[in-house]
Amino acid sequence: MPGRRPPLLSEAGFANIRQRVEQATGVHLADDRRTGVAARLHQRLKALRLTQFEQYLAVLDGPAGPGELEHLLRLLVARDSYFFREHRHFECLAHWLATLEHPPRLWSAACASGEEAWSLAMVAAQSSRLPGWQVLASDFDPQLLARAATGIYDIAQARYFPEGWLVRHCLCGVGETAGRLRIASSLRERVRFEAINLIRTLPAHLGSFDAILLRNLLANLAPPYKAKLLPRLLEHLRPGGLLIISHSESIHGLDLPLRPLLPSVFERL
Ligand SMILES: C[S@@+](CC[C@H](N)C(=O)[O-])C[C@H]1O[C@@H](n2cnc3c(N)ncnc32)[C@H](O)[C@@H]1O
Repeated sequence: MPGRRPPLLSEAGFANIRQRVEQATGVHLADDRRTGVAARLHQRLKALRLTQFEQYLAVLDGPAGPGELEHLLRLLVARDSYFFREHRHFECLAHWLATLEHPPRLWSAACASGEEAWSLAMVAAQSSRLPGWQVLASDFDPQLLARAATGIYDIAQARYFPEGWLVRHCLCGVGETAGRLRIASSLRERVRFEAINLIRTLPAHLGSFDAILLRNLLANLAPPYKAKLLPRLLEHLRPGGLLIISHSESIHGLDLPLRPLLPSVFERL
């Protein structure tokens, strides 16, 4: 029977897992993640009634491999998010959107469970001078996107909202749905969800955006993927549009047609 403690994940086993994650998403698992990876995968080994990581690698190489890889990525690729994370970005966007003379198209390019995309939608609804704004929300994981698209969250998440926005932009559950909020349909009809793996060729139909948010992914990407991704992403940002990354990330040293406006906010040249 599988035990309580994770079996040993050898250096070679960790390298094997790391390579699979990197090839599928571009995300690099640093050396110091080995123990954490073993602990996270231990739940999966138990569910599959396996006792050794070697057996798990064999599953990944077998007929069930593609489906199992999805489980693996869900366990190992960071997906934390919350509403109005790094709220200064949204304040900056609110001012900027109010200056535009066309309905903005905005892209939350690694949207996780949707909090970033819905925050964008609320800001667009509040600040855009014209109706008809659109938000594209994408992530590589369709299961995560399906959850994001429901627009349903624990009401505790509303603690991050600007005052009054819960009532203005959400419905609060009652009875069976008490304790949950749902994003209002006026916002839901303007946000489109699409599975896009940013390290693959981007869909030709994407078109051009006024602002792209690519936050809390770059820091985890292996350098070659980071260097290749940004120029391709910028093909979808109009001149004068904004690229916003996380405060904890850097694009220093990459030769990109961007001008810094504020820390972590760049204008496309
Ligand atoms: C830490 S979350 C950040 C979510 C949000 N941008 C934020 O800042 O709150 C990183 C997201 O990047 C997504 N991701 C990782 N690799 C990706 C790839 N190659 N293509 C698209 N999304 C990816 C993950 O699924 C995860 O949802």
